[in-house]
Amino acid sequence: MIRSEILATGMHVPANLVKNDDLSSMMDTSDEWIRQRTGIEQRYWADATTSTSDLAVEACKKALSNAKVDKSEIDMIIAATLTPDHEFPGLACFVQKKLGIPGVPALDIRQQCTGFIYSMSIADQFIRSGTYKKILIVGAEIHSKGLDKTTVGRDVTVLFGDGAGAVVLAAKDVADPKKDSHILSTHIHADGTFAEELWVEGPGSGVGADRVDFEKLKEGYHYPKMNGKAVFVHAVKRMPEVLQEALTANNLKPEDIDLFVFHQANLRINDMVAKQFNIPEEKVFNTIQKYANTTAATIPIGLDEAVRSGKLKKGMLVASAAFGSGFTWASAIYRY
Ligand SMILES: CC(C)(COP(=O)(O)OP(=O)(O)OC[C@H]1O[C@@H](n2cnc3c(N)ncnc32)[C@H](O)[C@@H]1OP(=O)(O)O)[C@@H](O)C(=O)NCCC(=O)NCCS
Repeated sequence: MIRSEILATGMHVPANLVKNDDLSSMMDTSDEWIRQRTGIEQRYWADATTSTSDLAVEACKKALSNAKVDKSEIDMIIAATLTPDHEFPGLACFVQKKLGIPGVPALDIRQQCTGFIYSMSIADQFIRSGTYKKILIVGAEIHSKGLDKTTVGRDVTVLFGDGAGAVVLAAKDVADPKKDSHILSTHIHADGTFAEELWVEGPGSGVGADRVDFEKLKEGYHYPKMNGKAVFVHAVKRMPEVLQEALTANNLKPEDIDLFVFHQANLRINDMVAKQFNIPEEKVFNTIQKYANTTAATIPIGLDEAVRSGKLKKGMLVASAAFGSGFTWASAIYRY
């Protein structure tokens, strides 16, 4: 049976390290508050000359090199982001231009923190159907250029970092599902009832006669707004639910999974999910301490770090789950 295999991963973050104490000099916050509430210790923020596609391309190049795949073999590019270089065209087109692989389809996914699992799900369908053989997926964000760095925006601003993570997916004729690397299943959901609980209002066609409303700009309608408590409450309900959905679909128990690579929004959210499933600490791979929430990039960054640190080896069974703006939530189980 034809399934999708993750051939290799790659990641890239900008050079500029921003510690929690650095944020205290911009706004009324503290290292203690941020660590206690979220687990975050630091993040990387890009400089003015770097765009999201620059980070994405670096991650893609590393993934291609690690996979020993030439860019000419790629049949499709999928880029997940909520911080594209420009309003249009999408990030995937700029990644394509910089990688130099014209002609193949380039698709943007706008599912925020679940964007990477949505991308995996879409890529998996194209590969299972036999349409494509190799797909490059990248999740990339530059949040730092869109955050309110005053005390007004502190509840959101301290949470986010910049970065990119990529994987190369390839068609694989799976003979032994218990041994061969492949995606077992993906599960994707959304409920737009909660679209305004975590969003950037504008610029956009939903705000009046002009996409850019200069009065609203002064009020900061271009900064993310979040109902943190609502996000937290829904995240700790939906992540376990969608993880269980994936386990049930594959007739697996939590203890069958070798490594959990969850989305990185808040260490407390992941601890609560792990507790519900009695997952031992050493089986949950968190990176939020180092990179904060890089939205669409958290899971591929986690996979790449896990591979490089020796925590994730070929043949291991991995489960991922994510929750985010939309609200959207998703899970995947795959043998790496
Ligand atoms: C954002 C979050 C960490 C806030 O934690 P919390 O324990 O709910 O904190 P609260 O919102 O109750 O705020 C507590 C106090 O800290 C203050 N505060 C908010 N941000 C702060 C910051 N960065 N530094 C210091 N104080 C801050 C609040 O103003 C509030 O003060 P008050 O009690 O005087 O009103 C938490 O709600 C969360 O993680 N939510 C989910 C966020 C998320 O996952 N987002 C991404 C989605 S993928």
